Amino acid sequence: MQGSSEESGKRFGVVIGGSGLVGGGIDYFFKKKMGYDILAPNSKKLSIRDPKDIESYFKSYRPDFIVNSAIASLDSDPKLSFEINYLGSINLAKVAASLKIPYIFISSAAVLPDGVNLREEEHLPLSASLGNYAKSKLMSELTLQHLKETEGLDYTIVRLGIVYGRHDHKIQGFHRMLFSVADQSMPLLFTKKGICHSYTNARKIPYFVRHIIDNRQEFGGATYHFIDPEPVALDRLILTIREILGLKRPRAIYMPLPVARFGARCIQHLLKLLVKFGIDARLPRELMFLSQFYQTQILSSQKLQNSSFVDPFPEQTVYRQLPELIEYYLTRWEQLNLISPFYNKEFFDPQHLAEEFLHNPDNLLADIHQKRIEPFCEFANDDSK
Ligand SMILES: NC(=O)c1ccc[n+]([C@@H]2O[C@H](COP(=O)([O-])OP(=O)(O)OC[C@H]3O[C@@H](n4cnc5c(N)ncnc54)[C@H](OP(=O)(O)O)[C@@H]3O)[C@@H](O)[C@H]2O)c1
Repeated sequence: MQGSSEESGKRFGVVIGGSGLVGGGIDYFFKKKMGYDILAPNSKKLSIRDPKDIESYFKSYRPDFIVNSAIASLDSDPKLSFEINYLGSINLAKVAASLKIPYIFISSAAVLPDGVNLREEEHLPLSASLGNYAKSKLMSELTLQHLKETEGLDYTIVRLGIVYGRHDHKIQGFHRMLFSVADQSMPLLFTKKGICHSYTNARKIPYFVRHIIDNRQEFGGATYHFIDPEPVALDRLILTIREILGLKRPRAIYMPLPVARFGARCIQHLLKLLVKFGIDARLPRELMFLSQFYQTQILSSQKLQNSSFVDPFPEQTVYRQLPELIEYYLTRWEQLNLISPFYNKEFFDPQHLAEEFLHNPDNLLADIHQKRIEPFCEFANDDSK
C-alpha cells in the first residue's frame, strides 16, 4: 500500500494539528529525532471537519499510529467546535479502529472541575452549560471510551495542563499572559493570592507520546495527565516575569473577579461600538477562561509517576524555562512589531547587532568583513568526510 511502514521500513505516523504548538513539537521530534516517516497535513490539505477528506486521506495512507492534536479556535461557535473537536476526533478514532492502530488523543484540563489532586477518572458532568471547548473535549473522551468497548479502539487520552514552550505562533494561553505583561496591558493581577494551576512543558510531550505508542499494553485504553509534578502559583509567575523584564506593571494588587468581569464587559461593549466605525478589534480569547484565573486547579500526576515513563528533563520547569522563553518570544514579537522595542538590550541583543544594522550598517559590514565579529554559522564541509 502507498504510504505505509511496509513500504519504507520506517515507523509511519500521521499527526493531525502538526502546525500547532503541541502537534508541531510532536511532528518535529518524530521526524528529526526518531527518524520516523511522519505526515502532518495542515487543515487545508486534510480538514478533519470534513469526513470525506478523512476517508480519502486514509485510503492513500496506512499509518502505524494517529496522533490528534487539532483544535478549533478557542472562541469557535458551537457548530465549528462540535465538527472539528468532536466529530473530527471521533472520525479519526474510527479510522484508527478500522486499521487496528493506536489513536493518541490530546485533551485538556478543561474537562476537569476546579480543585486539587484531580485524578484521571474525574471529569465535569456533561451539561449544556459547559463552554464549547470543554464540552467537545469531554464528549470526545467519553466516546473514545465507548469505542474501546464497542469497536475495540486502542486509544490513549493525554490531558495537558497549561502548555508552555516555543513556537506558539497564535500567542495563546500561557504565552498570551506573557504577552500581556511584556506589552504592559496588564495593569493589575487578574487573579487571587496563591491560585495554582498545573503546567505542561511542550518539549516533553513528544517523548511521552513516543513512549505510549511503544508501550500499548500499559497505556492502551487509558487516560493520563501529562503535567509537571509541581503546580504553579499564577501571581508568583506573573510577578517573576515582571521582575525578569524589569517592569513596574502589573502592580502587585489583586483585581477582584467581579471587577475584572465588569471591566471585560465594558471593553466588549466599547469594541462593538468601534466596529461601527470600521475598527475591528477583539478581546483576547483567554478572557473566556477568566473565572479559572481565580480558581485553583491542580491535576494529580501520580498515575504518570507510577508509570514506566521517565521524565527526560526533570529539571525543566516553567520557572527554569522562563529566561529562554522570554528571550525567544520577545525577540519574535519585537521583530513582528507586536510590541515596542524592548528595554533590556543587553539581555536580548548582547552584541548590539540589530542596533548596528539599524544605525551603522557600514561599520557593521566592515566589522564582519574584517572578522572583528563573526555572526555566521560554520557549516560542516561534506568533502572532509
Ligand atoms: N496550548 C495549551 O495551553 C493547551 C492546554 C491544554 C490542552 N491543549 C490541547 O493541545 C492540543 C493542541 O493545542 P495547541 O495549543 O497546539 O493548538 P494550536 O496551536 O491552536 O493548533 C491547532 C492545530 O489544529 C489544526 N486544525 C484546526 N482546525 C483543523 C481542521 N479542521 N482540520 C485539521 N486540523 C485542524 C491547526 O491546523 P492549521 O493551522 O493548518 O489550521 C493547528 O495545527 C489541543 O487538543 C488542545 O486542546 C492545549
